[in-house]
Amino acid sequence: MEMKIYPSILAADFSKLGKDIKNVENNIDGIHLDIMDGLFVPNISFGTPIIKSVRNITNKYLDAHLMIIDPDRYIEDYAKMGINGITIHYEAVTHLHRTIIKIKELGCDAGISLNPHTPVFLLEEILPFVDRVLIMSVNPGFTGQKFIPETLNKIKKLKNIIDNKNLNVKIEVDGGVGLKNIKNLYQAGAREFVVGAGIFHQKNPSEAAKKLKEVGME
Ligand code: DX5
Ligand code: ZN
Repeated sequence: MEMKIYPSILAADFSKLGKDIKNVENNIDGIHLDIMDGLFVPNISFGTPIIKSVRNITNKYLDAHLMIIDPDRYIEDYAKMGINGITIHYEAVTHLHRTIIKIKELGCDAGISLNPHTPVFLLEEILPFVDRVLIMSVNPGFTGQKFIPETLNKIKKLKNIIDNKNLNVKIEVDGGVGLKNIKNLYQAGAREFVVGAGIFHQKNPSEAAKKLKEVGME
């Protein structure tokens, strides 16, 4: 299975967001939207107006990563805005199964994200209902943080669980992903890669996105 690169616009320049997106569009598979509420994570990012603007300028897959408490409050609005995949945090939801079913009923791909401390075995019962698991390789909240190397093992463990159950669940990884670790992450089983600083903080973001794919699949 091919790999997918989703740049995180949290690392882009919001004063010229449209330009930044158009510039990388040819070499990416979708756009990762980091929604933060200042409670679940120690940072506030952006919400509806930015999401609408992004939807208006691109047809690419939009992957929303909700780092917010009680995400049920926003799921329907986001689905109506044309977001394609909604990922919620295991740690932020009480009735995970209900929320996942709701995301699917609204026609979106459903994802669960795990903070670095949350073990993958907790997903055993919910895995058959989801399309992707987003493994955080940094503590969520900010772009440009250092990759936590233990993530590689965590991805391998998750891949084993998914394979043993014969499921078609994609493993996505987010945080500190770059040229140094993308190949190892691919080999461990990740197929979707969220990249912020590794694309938008580079001299040539479009080339950086292309290179990540080449190096990852070498
Ligand atoms: C972190 C966010 C990430 C972040 C990735 O809380 O979920 O999506 O923007 O940025 P980098 O790739 O710079 O770590
Ligand atoms: Zn993210």
